[in-house]
Amino acid sequence: MNQDVLADLSSRLPGLRLLTDPGDLEHYGRDWTRRWAPAPLAIALPVSIEEVQGIVHWANERNVALVPSGGRTGLSGGAVAAQGELVVSLARMNQVLDFNAVDRTLTVQPGIALEAVHGAAREHGLIYPVDFAARGSCSIGGNIATNAGGIRVIRYGNTREWIAGLKVVAGNGELLDLNRGLIKNSSGYDLRQLMIGSEGTLGIVVEATLRLTDPPPASQVMLLALPDMDALMQVFALFRSRLSLQAFEFFTDIALKHVLAHGAQRAIDGDHPYYVVTEFDAVDERVQDIALEVFEQGVEQGWISDGVMAQSEAQAAALWRLREGITESLASHKPYKNDISVRIGAVPDFLQDIQSLLAREYPHIDVVWFGHIGDGNLHINVLKPASLSDADFIAQCEHVTKLLAQALQRHGGSISAEHGIGLVKRAYLESTRSAAEIALMRGVKATFDPNGILNPGKVFA
Ligand code: MLT
Ligand code: ZN
Repeated sequence: MNQDVLADLSSRLPGLRLLTDPGDLEHYGRDWTRRWAPAPLAIALPVSIEEVQGIVHWANERNVALVPSGGRTGLSGGAVAAQGELVVSLARMNQVLDFNAVDRTLTVQPGIALEAVHGAAREHGLIYPVDFAARGSCSIGGNIATNAGGIRVIRYGNTREWIAGLKVVAGNGELLDLNRGLIKNSSGYDLRQLMIGSEGTLGIVVEATLRLTDPPPASQVMLLALPDMDALMQVFALFRSRLSLQAFEFFTDIALKHVLAHGAQRAIDGDHPYYVVTEFDAVDERVQDIALEVFEQGVEQGWISDGVMAQSEAQAAALWRLREGITESLASHKPYKNDISVRIGAVPDFLQDIQSLLAREYPHIDVVWFGHIGDGNLHINVLKPASLSDADFIAQCEHVTKLLAQALQRHGGSISAEHGIGLVKRAYLESTRSAAEIALMRGVKATFDPNGILNPGKVFA
């Protein structure tokens, strides 16, 4: 049966590369969540917009589900193919197509890695400012599909701020050329923005025009040790009042323990429960003095217990590694990941609320807190104890996530700050979006993808 379906696709698109080797099915059928057993029908590797369109038309006719696929570094199961879907990998569509110096835009294919985008922008003396640890493996198409955030959101915002135009093959097979790089375009609904963050459920991004900007001025990186969680937002307010921040990230001693065990270098001696890595513009020595003043003030207030300022680029990179190495250092512990956000102003009350909740619900389990606290975004990673089966562990985490979702509702937050809903969080969508919103979202889905062939089961059941 599968053979017939694939033979039909091959006869329709004779040049299309299809993979059916078990190793390939396994590789392309899963993302970084590792929770679902991959079971795709096959992997299609189109090289052109026409091939993507051909696949989508064919899938509509044959009622075959498609899973659009980028670097599969996602953490919500958005790129998982576990139900016999055809994976549409954009890996071979990975070129820079155009740079426009006047518009300051870079037009790329969706399969290009974020790091390659950074490099291409730098070649023209500019930057593409969205950045995070998976930069070498994730693809720009996936970044767009999840409206990826990362470590510079505090300065530059999320992916959606940097997309000037998108070409998308919608679920009905239409090719849409959205916004065409315009800065000003007040001509009705912005379908480009609707596509960004839609997790491959409305269309497949086949080309993106990215906005670039000037590189930031010289910067300084500091690592701070904090005595308690209450101090976090006090230190944030203090630093933000005097310095122009590019990043303000936090992690706990448990995160530090794992990242050090994974090869990172300790930068501050002693035991401290919380740490912050911050980067700020440091155009001249005056800023260094201000940073030291602010640091001293934090120490006097009892909000900071120790700190170190990077003295070289290598040291700055080593401090960043303490934060950016966390995900990798936890991977072998099969973490259950919560990626939640509240308004920055609501963070202190929210933290109070959930600290006791998590301590109560996970008494004997390591819970690692880290994330983009300057954006109100926390990553809470619960590590699986060896004694618990995968199923029991996930059941326990799902129970706690329900309670967390209720807390988020009370504080007006979101169950997914930047990883997306995918499969992992779809049961909690109602905690963040109203019934009226979800009904409209379903209507949008039905309009773009009337036969429901695009990434079925993701975002909504
Ligand atoms: C991060 O901020 O490091 C990423 O969102 C990855 C993660 O949450 O594990
Ligand atoms: Zn993150």
